[in-house]
Amino acid sequence: MTLVREIKSGVFWVGAIDWDRRLFDALIPLPSGTSYNSYLIRGSEKTALIDAVDETKADVLMDNLRTLNVKDLDYIIVQHAEQDHSGGLKRLLKEYPSAKVIGSARCLDLLASFGLAEKDSLLEAKDGEKISLGNRSLQFISAPWVHWPDTIFTYLPEEHILFTCDFLGSHLATSSLFASDEAAVSSSARVYYAEIMMPFRSSVARHIERIEGLAVEIIAPSHGPIYDRPAFILDLYRDWSSDKVKNQVVLAYVSMHGSTRIMADYLVDALVSRGVEVRRFDLTNYDLGEFAGALVDAATVVIGTPTILAGAHPLAIYAATLARALRPKARYASIIGSFGWGGKMLEQITEALSGLNLQFFDPVVARGLPKEADLLALDRLAEEIAASHRKLD
Ligand code: FEO
Repeated sequence: MTLVREIKSGVFWVGAIDWDRRLFDALIPLPSGTSYNSYLIRGSEKTALIDAVDETKADVLMDNLRTLNVKDLDYIIVQHAEQDHSGGLKRLLKEYPSAKVIGSARCLDLLASFGLAEKDSLLEAKDGEKISLGNRSLQFISAPWVHWPDTIFTYLPEEHILFTCDFLGSHLATSSLFASDEAAVSSSARVYYAEIMMPFRSSVARHIERIEGLAVEIIAPSHGPIYDRPAFILDLYRDWSSDKVKNQVVLAYVSMHGSTRIMADYLVDALVSRGVEVRRFDLTNYDLGEFAGALVDAATVVIGTPTILAGAHPLAIYAATLARALRPKARYASIIGSFGWGGKMLEQITEALSGLNLQFFDPVVARGLPKEADLLALDRLAEEIAASHRKLD
């Protein structure tokens, strides 16, 4: 069996759904699998393929092309060199040796460095350049830093379809070609945005603006379902990438003997009773994607950690380091935790969160079990956070 779906006359989805994949980049959980979308566009004179799926699914792509009786491919457009979109390229070139591989200069360089294509067989796609397929054309749009420097979008003006590779995608294996269940897609797309696009917020906003200048009826990313209502995903991205933060705290903590947990729970109640929303993560048992998703628009991040081996707990350092890498737009931060006889816990967490332009509220650190004075300090911290959130524009 193969699965080929026609989006518009002569424009086909020929990718692969990966129902079983559960981890990406050896880091990102994929609770709902993913898809590697690939698109075949037939013009009156030439045929082009956009993106080449993950190597593990190259057989599926080849079978899909056979189903459509594709004897010749004139162009293979690689919108981005990461292997989940280019891994099938070698197989494709074996089957279609005369196809011209098109990508940005950086993409072509990366493809060569990954051993996926020979440099002299590649054609550079410059920003704004067009190729003709006869009665149709494809225009390339340079879109660096969402999320690699090499990305291009491809615009099919005659059909008003924009192919956006990773941008605007979601890790969601689904039988729906289009994003019909917008609630489910929104939830997956948010986590995907947090994990992949959030560190590049300013590029995201720039590319959204550029897309708004095009007549687009369909947005076809290379992961997850296609959008036949582009405003749905564009509005979400506009909101997520804006400077606006919400009255929310992300509290990520780890506790060894209960002191930090007591403080975390106390702070949660103190915040909630002051009207602040809290997402609480026990770092011994949490979902990295949910943590990333919670960081998308929270105003404040609080890390809770005990002291172990003279410093912060490694799980807390990991969470803080991850938060720094994802570059959320949070404005405030604090640290809570406990110690027995000293250590560099505060310095380590502060360092791990450095570079995020955060205003730090005074930390609250208890010796052993939190006492009355520590709980009062947590009340003060909650009050400071709530008061700062009340002033948010
Ligand atoms: Fe889906 Fe950056 O690869």
